[in-house]
Amino acid sequence: DSPRIFVTRRIAAQALKQLEGRVQMEVWEGSGPPPRAELEARLPHLDGLLSLLTDPLNAEMIALAGPNFRVLSQMAVGTDNIDLAAASARRIPVGHTPGVLTEACADFAMALLLAAARRVVEGDREVRAGIWRPWGPDILVGKDLYGGTLGIVGFGRIGQAVARRAQGFGMRLLVHDLNPDTHLEKCFGIQFVSLPELLRQSDFVSIHVYLSPQTRGMFNAETLGQMKPGAVLVNTARGPIVEPQALQAALESGRLAAAALDVFDPEPIPADSPLLAMPNVIITPHIASAAGQVRLNMAQIAVENLLLGLAGQPLRFCANAAALGPA
Ligand code: GLV
Ligand code: GLV
Repeated sequence: DSPRIFVTRRIAAQALKQLEGRVQMEVWEGSGPPPRAELEARLPHLDGLLSLLTDPLNAEMIALAGPNFRVLSQMAVGTDNIDLAAASARRIPVGHTPGVLTEACADFAMALLLAAARRVVEGDREVRAGIWRPWGPDILVGKDLYGGTLGIVGFGRIGQAVARRAQGFGMRLLVHDLNPDTHLEKCFGIQFVSLPELLRQSDFVSIHVYLSPQTRGMFNAETLGQMKPGAVLVNTARGPIVEPQALQAALESGRLAAAALDVFDPEPIPADSPLLAMPNVIITPHIASAAGQVRLNMAQIAVENLLLGLAGQPLRFCANAAALGPA
């Protein structure tokens, strides 16, 4: 009997093709994530699951997986929707897709940074509203990237890719990382500093850490209050790293000039969020990795991880490899 798997959304056909004839596959055809009850009903009978970050795979859910369940393959780099400890305790490897989305996410962080700094969305909105104010010395004046200081919080793959781009824009770079590798300072032209120092000096701050107990709420009333007055905050990482109320207060008080967010807590953003009415806030619906080739590569790696896991082999990219130890 070939293994039974469930794919929680229709992903690239080219990737799904790899599974044909090798597994008994069901694909959730909805435009959004499958309802919780759907996952609950299926998990006891599955050998593997191909998940997205919209699937709440907490400890309770993982406990429902049947005795043959042997791989959880997520099509994302982040796995914060998955209780990794619960998966590890059951010896279930969790696959993810790092690397292939690095450059696209860095591009998007720069797109948000540029758009917020130079008021691209505001300008577009004015023109569409029929307001084209004649060229004027003080119309929609934003912040200078050139010569400005960018603070990068988290210096993994994506943070480093942002640094390379920002060099090209003539920015000075400060970096905060929990495990700074000082060898990188010369090669990226950066300087590692503490978080308070970074916040105090940076005209722009871009977040590139994983969501973890250490980073949840990292940007709160206290830390936002340490930011340079008039700074711009960009978040393409995970919503809960920034406390929404504290962010709102920092924007209202003028402490922050603008914020650009690809992620929010919760997602989708509540329709009554005051941030939606603020002209200096840009919000996009978690699309930093949404580039054609990247999404195909992510799907293919997710399928590869799934097949490796079903065969009992080490995954190409495993988020809980350390916890599982040597095979
Ligand atoms: C997207 O947010 C991802 O983790 O891949
Ligand atoms: C702007 O369009 C300029 O010519 O300065």
